[in-house]
Amino acid sequence: MVTSYKKLGLTNTREMFEKAVDGGYAIPGYNFNNMEQLQAVVGACSETRSPLILQVSEGARNYANETMLRYMAEGAVEYAKEIAAAGEEPIPIALHLDHGDSFEICKDCVDNGFSSVMIDGSQLPYEENVELTAKVCDYAHEHAVSVEGELGVLAGIEDDVEAEESVYTDPEDVEDFVSRTNVDSLAISIGTSHGANKFTPEQCTRNDAGELVPPPLRFDILEEIEEKLPGFPIVLHGSSSVPRDVVDKINKYGGQLEDAIGIPEDQLRKAAKSAVCKINIDSDGRLAVTAAIRETMAEQPEVFDPRKYLGPGREALKELYKHKNRNVLGSANQA
Ligand code: G3H
Ligand code: 13P
Ligand code: ZN
Repeated sequence: MVTSYKKLGLTNTREMFEKAVDGGYAIPGYNFNNMEQLQAVVGACSETRSPLILQVSEGARNYANETMLRYMAEGAVEYAKEIAAAGEEPIPIALHLDHGDSFEICKDCVDNGFSSVMIDGSQLPYEENVELTAKVCDYAHEHAVSVEGELGVLAGIEDDVEAEESVYTDPEDVEDFVSRTNVDSLAISIGTSHGANKFTPEQCTRNDAGELVPPPLRFDILEEIEEKLPGFPIVLHGSSSVPRDVVDKINKYGGQLEDAIGIPEDQLRKAAKSAVCKINIDSDGRLAVTAAIRETMAEQPEVFDPRKYLGPGREALKELYKHKNRNVLGSANQA
């Protein structure tokens, strides 16, 4: 039996992307694994009036249980209605599978209330990626579910797959890939990567203040892709900025994060104004929660009620996402 996302009050990404392409902003792809993350994400996006793509990875399905996650997403829709300001529509929410690696997992999500799926065939030979992505699109589109594909390999960890080096997306491939697969959006590789250690210090230069500055994103590749696919929604994964003050706070309170370096926010701001209309951020949220919990535990060692440390973690996460929507993605007031 298929449970349609429409029944759960979710939307697919089609209209969201059309508006984002026209409006020159990016929609957030925020991951969640637990209730506090979900409350923070929905609260932040509702307060800033941003459309939202809620992401579930395979790791999240294993951690939280797929049935739990589906009902949590349904709960998120109701929560968004409850906290919408008087006279305002609730924000549109899509439920998206992040980095699906097989037809079966994508089908399972389509059948169980997801409104969007990613089939990540980026590690496969090109023709196999085309074949798998087209098969997922055929099935998903029968149910009006959107599909994100990926071309090019991000360095770092893509779910369970580790890539040593990134392979930038070849702009010569994108028209062929999109027309043969029918994907609704395309994730590309232009220098971002997953996790909190995106660059080694050796790959960076230093500015006048002595701070490490990572190499810029390959905007030249992005521009070529935009020329080949005018108006087509492009997605950036691995777009955490790894804020220095948050990393310092984690380390101050007993953490041991070394060489944590992300994508500067001004680079993402620039990308969000171009063909990029979805930006995935997960690691920054993990860092914000960890910093707040470590601080609470260190400053208030007598605390043992989880609400007393998960609460500040949730609040820090909400503030982070409001900042991203307003100042990085430009998605505030676009719901
Ligand atoms: O791209 C990966 C996301 O950050 C999800 O990570 O597989 O650890 O849940 P995860
Ligand atoms: P970060 O690890 O940079 O937050 O990227 C998250 C992501 O791409 C999820 O798919
Ligand atoms: Zn990703």
